[in-house]
Amino acid sequence: MKLSDRHVVVIGGTSGIGLAVAEGALAEGARVTVASSRRETVDAGLASLSGASGDVIDVKDDRSVQAFFERVGSLDHLVFTAGDWGGPRNNTLGAVDLDAAQALFSVRFWGALRAVKHASSRIAPDGSVTLTDGMIAHNPSPGSFVSTAMAGAIEHLTRALAVELKPVRVNAVCPGLILTDVWNSIPEEKRAERLARMTAHLPLARVGKPDEAAEAYLYLMRGGYTTGQVLLVDGGSSVA
Ligand SMILES: NC(=O)c1ccc[n+]([C@@H]2O[C@H](COP(=O)([O-])OP(=O)(O)OC[C@H]3O[C@@H](n4cnc5c(N)ncnc54)[C@H](OP(=O)(O)O)[C@@H]3O)[C@@H](O)[C@H]2O)c1
Repeated sequence: MKLSDRHVVVIGGTSGIGLAVAEGALAEGARVTVASSRRETVDAGLASLSGASGDVIDVKDDRSVQAFFERVGSLDHLVFTAGDWGGPRNNTLGAVDLDAAQALFSVRFWGALRAVKHASSRIAPDGSVTLTDGMIAHNPSPGSFVSTAMAGAIEHLTRALAVELKPVRVNAVCPGLILTDVWNSIPEEKRAERLARMTAHLPLARVGKPDEAAEAYLYLMRGGYTTGQVLLVDGGSSVA
């Protein structure tokens, strides 16, 4: 299955991994729409996406998502890479604030489900949905239990939606450490050393590049006999 002339919608496609997916889909001749919550990020993304359309959507807001898909109309492939760093990620079990912890699910889990809900009637029968989780689902660390549960929930949502939306295919990409702007939270003078330390034990002992993660989404859009799957792009961290 080719992507040329197919309509690919990337929510979160204005930066990082989603931007690389949008670039890859454009290079394959797709019609691409990217969207995220801040107009300035959308404009910045569009500046490097010649020929793409951009729009604003807040996946935490049901009306925003519904209105977005009304504007989009029909589509072939929905890619969801929107993510924030909301909610406390390092929790002590005895002190965890469960109300605050729920915020971790708002964009990446509930936002994904909300997007699929409003897109579902508009996706071509031979089209696809690709969601995003992260290796924290498979490699929990002390204090990560809410993040691990949230990411794992996306994988199970993927399996269930593959049954729910058939014959539309539903898959997920599970990235390891991919070098996007999210890592700018580490001060620049410490970043390279810290990322090298975090990846030294991997079979591929380096951080991944956004276009390497994007390859997985492009395959899952094209791969017409693959559904209900999670594709790890993790430098081998699952076998380290
Ligand atoms: N990079 C990694 O190492 C890594 C590892 C594992 C998993 N992941 C996951 O992969 C996904 C993409 O990561 P990334 O590194 O590419 O992050 P990123 O560069 O920060 O991109 C996240 C995108 O989500 C959008 N977004 C945030 N809140 C939104 C909302 N409420 N509604 C709509 N869009 C929203 C952002 O744009 P606006 O600010 O304009 O909304 C941005 O376009 C995330 O789910 C992340 O958790 C990343």
